[in-house]
Amino acid sequence: MIGHSYNINASEFQQQILPSGYGTTKVFGYGGMIQDPQTGRAAYYRSAPGSTFEAIRGIPVHVQWINNITGPHFLPIDPTLDWANPNSMSVPLPPFPTFPPGFPLAQKTVPIVPHLHGGENPSYYDGYPDAWWTADGKTGPAFTTNRYTFPNLQHPTALWYHDHTMGMTRLNNYAGLSGLYVLRELNDPIAPFLPSRENEIPLIIQDRSFHTDVSLFYDPAGANPSIHPYVPPEFFGNTIIVNGKVWPNLNVKPQQYRFRVLNGSNSRFYYLQLSNQQKFTQIGSDGGYLPQPAQLSSLMIAPAERADILIDFSSLAPGTTVILRNDASAPFPDGTAADPETVGQIMQFTVINDTVLPPKKLPPVLNNIPQLKPVITRTLILFEQEGPNGPLKVTLDGQLWRNPVSELPRAGTTEDWQIANLTPDTHPIHLHLIQFLLVSRQKFRSEDYLKDWQTLNQTTAPGTPPYFAKPKAPQIEPYLKGQPIAPPSSEKGWKDTIQMNPGEVTTIRIRFTSQDGSPFPFDPSLGPGYVWHCHMLEHEDNEMMRPLKILP
Ligand code: C2O
Ligand code: CU
Repeated sequence: MIGHSYNINASEFQQQILPSGYGTTKVFGYGGMIQDPQTGRAAYYRSAPGSTFEAIRGIPVHVQWINNITGPHFLPIDPTLDWANPNSMSVPLPPFPTFPPGFPLAQKTVPIVPHLHGGENPSYYDGYPDAWWTADGKTGPAFTTNRYTFPNLQHPTALWYHDHTMGMTRLNNYAGLSGLYVLRELNDPIAPFLPSRENEIPLIIQDRSFHTDVSLFYDPAGANPSIHPYVPPEFFGNTIIVNGKVWPNLNVKPQQYRFRVLNGSNSRFYYLQLSNQQKFTQIGSDGGYLPQPAQLSSLMIAPAERADILIDFSSLAPGTTVILRNDASAPFPDGTAADPETVGQIMQFTVINDTVLPPKKLPPVLNNIPQLKPVITRTLILFEQEGPNGPLKVTLDGQLWRNPVSELPRAGTTEDWQIANLTPDTHPIHLHLIQFLLVSRQKFRSEDYLKDWQTLNQTTAPGTPPYFAKPKAPQIEPYLKGQPIAPPSSEKGWKDTIQMNPGEVTTIRIRFTSQDGSPFPFDPSLGPGYVWHCHMLEHEDNEMMRPLKILP
């Protein structure tokens, strides 16, 4: 078989996350046979996050995924969500508040289903949320295979793989089931202008909290405990981990470095800055190189977004330390400010005494982004439904996950999706299968729009079942205010996840083809289909996800 083949298993083990001396922490992670770059010998290695894939454009990767998690989940399942219940659906739920913590009755083994985020892949290999399976042979209703093939035909970039199990994505990811997937191009014309591979480092940024015995703490406090006892509206940890280590230091030579930054957090946004006010250069976003390098003094990165950035340490004296800081509130934008002593800090760089190497000059154009012409425009809403004590769930298009699929674009066509955010939060909205372009963001009269939306659909609460017809959306144009805001330099390239701010209509342009405009090399209408969703995992697990089917 042409390509590279891997067997990767998910299992439970102990890992040193806190500094040594604190003891180890139970995680779920991915493992497999890995070649040691020094000795060339292969050995079994597992970690959380999992190891980084190195893939080459045009060479397929085959992965046999294995679920070796044989025990119950160590984090609190919420059986009141629409979730991957591996037991008989008739397990009686004890009435609240007698749920024991973690409710082990509801779940004896852990369902998993991996997804390659940003990947242009057949839907059978896309990790559909209902395509989960367990170590003891139970499968979800959409399961077809645990052997995936990734064609790797899209632009070179950093993708990432992570668990996508229905109603459990927040817990499986928090436990450690994620990792980076770097896709490179042989003879990449930009690579000669970039730092050597030795100076290229992935930074997977996540927030965690720990019990005093250093086990992972996941706050199970639902805002409406009588309805959803164990799912918080969002989870925010009080500790930052990078590549699975708490607040690490990286020794850097006085040279330029390339960082593949991934926000792999459940719900936390990061507003990144360097403590010495130094500027840095963004060269790539989710789906490949930006059209032009972007000089930045700060960068907002939402869950699931990636940024390919260059930081030049060549003018710093040996011994200098620089802290990568974060200044984003949680939730963003109107939540609690980041504590500068804790989550306000991500990691530290220490400049060591070594050869000074000034950066190479980048070419002015890194990527050609095509002009696309939409054939239709869809108008969709983000809506937060309130419960008796606060947020109950967030919905897309005022619909629930189980409502019939209503987004059915035709392969080969281009669509504009204008998404009106009626909630108080910024949501990172992600579509599977394709990379899209940001057209604009524009303020609108959201309260008036919501009122008219409710009148048109004769409901006060979008997302309240039963809801079997696709809701109607009033024309958005009369509600728009001011001028559309064009994408900033860091969002002019291909995106698979985009920040949608409150009080704004965000318009994205989506071409349902391969990224270079040619037809998909597989039939995207086959298989269980795709999804689009908010990438704050507590939202995604609680109805902020919808199916997406491609018509031939
Ligand atoms: Cu990062 Cu639907 O996933
Ligand atoms: Cu959200």
